Amino acid sequence: MTEKALDHLVERLDGLAPTTALVLGSGLGGLVDQVKDAVRISYADLPGFPRSGVSGHAGEVVAGLFAGTPVLMLSGRAHYYEHGNAAAMRPALEVLAGIGVTKLILTNAAGSVDPEMGPGSVMLITDHINFSGSNPLIGEPSDRRFVGLTEAYDAGIRKAIEKAAAATATALHQGVYMWFSGPCFETPAEIRMARIMGANAVGMSTVPEVILARFLGLRVAACSVITNLAAGMTGAELSHQETKDMAPVGGARLATILQRVFQDGLPES
Ligand code: HPA
Repeated sequence: MTEKALDHLVERLDGLAPTTALVLGSGLGGLVDQVKDAVRISYADLPGFPRSGVSGHAGEVVAGLFAGTPVLMLSGRAHYYEHGNAAAMRPALEVLAGIGVTKLILTNAAGSVDPEMGPGSVMLITDHINFSGSNPLIGEPSDRRFVGLTEAYDAGIRKAIEKAAAATATALHQGVYMWFSGPCFETPAEIRMARIMGANAVGMSTVPEVILARFLGLRVAACSVITNLAAGMTGAELSHQETKDMAPVGGARLATILQRVFQDGLPES
C-alpha cells in the first residue's frame, strides 16, 4: 500500500526532492496558496493516506517551492477521534520518509490554558503531555517501538523558528501541548487539571504524529495556533466553528514565521 503511494508521489513530483514537510492543521490550509509551481495530489490518489472527514481539512498533498525552498505540504490530517486509530497518519509519514523527507513541521489549532496567551497567538511546542490514553505505536511488534522522547522536539528546528519569529517581529509563545482524544472539548475541571499538570495549550492532534515521526527517524517541530481560551476561562461555550473562524488569525502570523524559516533554510542537523 505504502509503496504504491510512494511510487505515485515520486512520479508526480517529477524530480522535486523536498527534505522538509509541513502538516497543516484546522483552518491553516491557506498556506498552500503560497506554494509556487504547485503540484497538487489528492489523498484519494495515495493509498494509505487518510480520508479526513473533518471540515476545515482538505486532504491533499501540495508540493512545490515555498519561499524558494522545496516543500511538501500535507493539507489535512487524520485525527484519533475520527476512527479511534492513533496510527492513522503512519502510512503518510512513512511515504514522506520514503521520498527523502527528514524534517517535519506540524501545525495545529489549539485552546490556550494561559489567559496571557489569547486567540490569535502562536505557540512553539517545546514538549507534550499525552493525556489521550492511546499511542500510535501500540501493536508495533519491533523493539523500535520503545522510542525515546526526551528531545522529541528538535532543538535546531526550534531555534530556526525562534529566529524567524524575531526577524519578522512576530510574537511567539513557547509551551507544552497536552493531547486530549477529543472530539468533545474539555471540561473546565479538565482545563484546571491541565494547567496544574504543566500544560500551556490543549488540543486533539499532533502528538501521535510526533511519536510516529520520531519512530521513523524524522526531526520534528510543531506550532499551535491559538483559536480560543480553553473551557471555563471565558464563560462562553466552545465550538468547531470558532476554531475554523479563528485559526486564520494566528495562521497568518504562523505563515509569516514559516515563510522566513524556509527563506533562511533549515539546519541539516
Ligand atoms: N480544546 C481542544 N482542541 C482545540 C481547542 C480546545 O479548546 N481549540 C482548538 N482545538
